[in-house]
Amino acid sequence: MKLDSLRDQSAIVLWNDAYINGATNLWGDPPVPYAEKAARLFADSGAFIVMDLPCGDGRNLPTLGQFAPVLIGADTSENALGISQKVLERAGLVRRSSLLIVDAYETRLPDNTVDGIFCWDLLGHLTEPERALRELHRIVRPGGHVVANMWTMGDCQVSDPNIKEISPKIYIDHFDFYCRFYDREDIDAFLGAAGIAAEKVELARWSEPPHVGYRDYEHDHESWVITIRK
Ligand SMILES: C[S@@+](CC[C@H](N)C(=O)[O-])C[C@H]1O[C@@H](n2cnc3c(N)ncnc32)[C@H](O)[C@@H]1O
Repeated sequence: MKLDSLRDQSAIVLWNDAYINGATNLWGDPPVPYAEKAARLFADSGAFIVMDLPCGDGRNLPTLGQFAPVLIGADTSENALGISQKVLERAGLVRRSSLLIVDAYETRLPDNTVDGIFCWDLLGHLTEPERALRELHRIVRPGGHVVANMWTMGDCQVSDPNIKEISPKIYIDHFDFYCRFYDREDIDAFLGAAGIAAEKVELARWSEPPHVGYRDYEHDHESWVITIRK
């Protein structure tokens, strides 16, 4: 196993612990604004099964579930899924949703099973994002979509006093999470390496409230949002 893969493996344990330390809800309730756009894109293309991978503690599940006949929330963290379960209950979505432990590198789902995948704030944390994107592309059905983001160097994390640069555009944050930031040409290189063409790559900016115990201040994110139609 490569050293980088080991970092991804140990991050899975760290993430799970973060959801305990973060008490009830690590990221806070407001959905990221792009979740609404993705939900509408999936609905407009007739999506039946929509998957939020990773769903984390569920902030985007109610938005993604509003039009989806079947909603899957998936993550490697059991603790996160426990919090997501409560989010689904509050949103009245339990009867048409499932929560699954899923690793984005190896989902174990058959080819062409999901109609829309929302992959938010994961690829920048992975040391082999091309491998994960190929896996997401494998499980989405022809005509279905993957919507995923990757942070730019303008993202708030780059100027966080607790993050350390280990090589150009690659940082380790105070939770020991790997964080990779992308310029526009890096996105093209990434998609080329994955062997997958994007329908659209656009810049998104949004603000988030403090995440207690993780990033204790209001902050501004900036990401490339990649929309892929299989
Ligand atoms: C920054 S959070 C984002 C969660 C959610 N997308 C959101 O916007 O709130 C990253 C999530 O990725 C999960 N994760 C880490 N490695 C993973 C992997 N290999 N496969 C699936 N999920 C993973 C973590 O457990 C964590 O919940």
